Amino acid sequence: MTDNIRTIFNRIAPVYDQLNDWLSLGQHHVWKEMTAKWSVAKPGDTSLDLCCGSGDLSFRLARRVGRNGQVYGVDFSSQLLEIAKKRCQSQYPQPKITWVEADVLSLPFEDNQFDAATMGYGLRNVTDIQRSLKELHRVLKAGAKAAILDFHRPSNPQLRAFQQWYLGNLVVPIANNLGLKEEYAYISPSLDRFPTGNEQREIARQVGFAAATHYPIANGMMGVLVITKA
Ligand SMILES: C[S@@+](CC[C@H](N)C(=O)[O-])C[C@H]1O[C@@H](n2cnc3c(N)ncnc32)[C@H](O)[C@@H]1O
Repeated sequence: MTDNIRTIFNRIAPVYDQLNDWLSLGQHHVWKEMTAKWSVAKPGDTSLDLCCGSGDLSFRLARRVGRNGQVYGVDFSSQLLEIAKKRCQSQYPQPKITWVEADVLSLPFEDNQFDAATMGYGLRNVTDIQRSLKELHRVLKAGAKAAILDFHRPSNPQLRAFQQWYLGNLVVPIANNLGLKEEYAYISPSLDRFPTGNEQREIARQVGFAAATHYPIANGMMGVLVITKA
């Protein structure tokens, strides 16, 4: 299962950024900016971007932590990490971003290292959400926050119907034109299985986070889980 997910993201890598822009009409940049802000990363912090992909959230963290801070972007797709590195070289001449190829279910970091963390569209893709949040909890310092952005199923039935129509009738056909139909068809079933905001909060509390709030955004079609380690 893990290998399947990695293969999907390696195949998507060449068109990933372009597709995100088209499919969200550029809105994913706004949602990612909110996520970076809600991580409360500040100048000088050591921060972590889990499932960093091509680096959108890592770059936003880098701007927040500044020259005296550090960012670690972690992903298991070597192809997406290559794109992140290239973007980094062209956009940030002196970045403090370290790209780490690893599974977020088993992070190669000591306990209590990070002041802030983000994760964008990763939690829905990991094979074990509880374990992923537990690993995140382990590597955060006491008092640190993490902000986790992902799709969400809106409670309003009309909005949910729109979301299903959008995924089935826009996202999949556009991906099909690029030869990536199966890779994008996985979004809808993964969203069906994905815990609601309230359930995500509950899991976060179970693994040890002291506070957990889920903010619905984009009319509840997306959400940001903000969690704090005691
Ligand atoms: C939809 S992409 C999101 C990329 C980026 N965060 C963004 O928002 O644009 C999901 C990413 O999660 C990564 N991923 C999924 N499961 C993972 C795991 N167990 N360990 C590391 N990376 C994982 C994939 O390789 C992929 O890059």
